[in-house]
Amino acid sequence: MLVMLLPLCALPQEAPKEGGRGHHGPPKNLKILKPEQLRPAMESFRAALGVQCTFCHVRGDFASDENPHKNTARMMLTMVQEINAKFPGNANARTYVTCYTCHRGQKEPATAPPTAAAAPGE
Ligand code: HEC
Ligand code: HEC
Repeated sequence: MLVMLLPLCALPQEAPKEGGRGHHGPPKNLKILKPEQLRPAMESFRAALGVQCTFCHVRGDFASDENPHKNTARMMLTMVQEINAKFPGNANARTYVTCYTCHRGQKEPATAPPTAAAAPGE
């Protein structure tokens, strides 16, 4: 019975205890994520948008919701969960879409290819 069921968001390894380092204590203001999802999620947000932690967080107070980008990120997270839940043929609750799928290292994703070359004949 050594079978391990990996959760959807595929944590790379077993986290020893919630919060990891513990220099700020356990999280106080999580509305969507579970404590054990926090660290990998934050790293992926930062990488996906190409930003620092302080793009969404008040410096020195991660629990604060004063920075409006933090709540935008919560809404984005909910959207991503809905997209994956409704993704065509997703019987195994796989993660198809992530922040990176749209953002690609940018704060504001492009909605058109970089070179909008005029169509021939126009
Ligand atoms: C794109 C925005 C964004 C970025 C960038 C980001 N965070 Fe977060 N962070 C959030 C959101 C949203 C939550 C709340 C999640 C929830 O409600 O479940 C959160 C919650 C947290 C919490 C929990 C605070 C508490 O007590 O409730 C910590 C700690 C944290 N982030 C650390 C970091 C660190 C460290 C980085 C940089 C590696 C980072 N975050 C980058 C959006 C972001
Ligand atoms: C379906 C595509 C899509 C996905 C997936 C997506 N985003 Fe976004 N996001 C956007 C678009 C488009 C904008 C720009 C909206 C605008 O211009 O007002 C944006 C804007 C944002 C902003 C505000 C940036 C700014 O400059 O103010 C944050 C923060 C953000 N997204 C976080 C996230 C996070 C975190 C995730 C993953 C949980 C995520 N997004 C997933 C499309 C997406």
